[in-house]
Amino acid sequence: MGRSLVDVDDLSREELLTVLDRAADLKAAHADDAGAGNDVLADRTLGMIFEKPSTRTRVSFETGMTQLGGHAIFLGPDDIHLGHGEPIKDTARAVSRYVDFVMARVFDHADVVELAEYATVPVVNGLTDDAHPCQTLADLLTIREQMGFDASVVWVGDGNNVCQSFVLGAAMVGLDLTVATPAGYGVDDAVLDRAADIGDAPATTTDPEAAVDGADVVYTDVWVSMGQEDEREQKLADFDGFQVTPELLGDRSLMHCLPAHRGEEVTDAALESENAVVWDQAENRLHAQKGLLAWLHEQ
Ligand code: CP
Ligand code: NVA
Repeated sequence: MGRSLVDVDDLSREELLTVLDRAADLKAAHADDAGAGNDVLADRTLGMIFEKPSTRTRVSFETGMTQLGGHAIFLGPDDIHLGHGEPIKDTARAVSRYVDFVMARVFDHADVVELAEYATVPVVNGLTDDAHPCQTLADLLTIREQMGFDASVVWVGDGNNVCQSFVLGAAMVGLDLTVATPAGYGVDDAVLDRAADIGDAPATTTDPEAAVDGADVVYTDVWVSMGQEDEREQKLADFDGFQVTPELLGDRSLMHCLPAHRGEEVTDAALESENAVVWDQAENRLHAQKGLLAWLHEQ
């Protein structure tokens, strides 16, 4: 059956650090020699199920499989029977007879839970409405490389999928994290409870300006996530005052999982400033996922 990654706390703290170390090693090997590590997943195949669009997740997983000597199959919303009548549990069992890993980006978090339950190969969550653990792996790799885990991080914006997995990852590595959201848009209580069980739950506030005082990093994400388009008008009004501008950012580093909606959660000037580490962060999706896949293969 193997291990799956439905959310980042499916890993123990030690396993998370092992995956990050593996990612760093593969990144260094690739920088030295683009062919290094090419055989780790030779003859292995990753099936990639996408119910939502993706740039980084799709390209980094597919490229990562190629770099490790394997192959990836893109399965978009109109490519397979899932979503057109075939249930998840049947898709999971059939696809498991062909591929060595499944990565899935779906709307309902319960769907990736069910996929992992019925699949007989590792299932990796490539984003649900509630979680984005692969993003957290890349975020932690970036923070460890650039600031170290002593950094103080403030999340400014929506307490969404990306934020929720980051809260868990931060608790696992002991990051000092504050989450600043408008009232009613905070992280789910169940996620805060899980973080508290692991280590420390983040501080929470509705005052972004006070929150960033003394911080090293400001992290934001879109206010209107995929599937929330009907809530757009309401959310734009509710998030007034939470935009990351050069003034709010000051000399802090800026993280963003991307894609960014310039003029909403972040200004063009902030995103294009030297403080933004977003391209390093995006690159680390590739390395983090290579580390994850190599590690999963060994379990
Ligand atoms: N950050 C992220 O998951 O980007 P994509 O939606 O482009 O995959
Ligand atoms: N919160 C965003 C993240 C995209 C990678 C969304 O779910 O659309």
